[in-house]
Amino acid sequence: MQHVKDILAHKSNQVWSVTPDTTVFDALKKMSDKSIGSLLVMEGEKLVGLFSERDYARKVVLHDKSSRTMPVTEIMTRRILCVSPERSVEECMALMTDQRVRHLPVIENKQVVGVVSIGDLVKAIMHDQQILIDQLQQYITG
Ligand SMILES: NC(=O)c1ccc[n+]([C@@H]2O[C@H](COP(=O)([O-])OP(=O)(O)OC[C@H]3O[C@@H](n4cnc5c(N)ncnc54)[C@H](O)[C@@H]3O)[C@@H](O)[C@H]2O)c1
Repeated sequence: MQHVKDILAHKSNQVWSVTPDTTVFDALKKMSDKSIGSLLVMEGEKLVGLFSERDYARKVVLHDKSSRTMPVTEIMTRRILCVSPERSVEECMALMTDQRVRHLPVIENKQVVGVVSIGDLVKAIMHDQQILIDQLQQYITG
């Protein structure tokens, strides 16, 4: 069974973030440049929010607001679900499914040490399943 720390060990431990006063437009540009769907919103070392493509779609586009002037702090998600590196992939998947979120910041000793996405979890689960399939095939074929 894989854990969050195993996922982080296989991806860059770079955490992409913006400050609360960053405009939505600049945040979207950063997401596009980095090919990611979320940004942590940080005040210094403190995690204060999470800004996602979904926040933009639902809170800006649908309300006909301007991304060029609006700061992310106005629409970021403030109730952030975080996990520790010791959490299992299955526990994180259950949390994401129950709470309908796609990204979980990873916190260790009160510091942000990474981010895991639903895609990261799917990839880890598929990897484990492939190993199991290979072992079963070997067992069957001798
Ligand atoms: N990530 C994968 O390995 C993977 C595997 C299979 C399919 N997909 C598909 O790709 C699409 C989106 O992928 P996703 O769910 O991984 O979301 P995503 O596009 O937001 O994430 C892409 C990668 O960037 C990382 N990331 C995202 N925000 C970050 C941040 N602020 N700081 C640091 N790293 C950050 C994620 O952990 C992930 O590794 C989905 O359609 C998904 O099904 C992804």
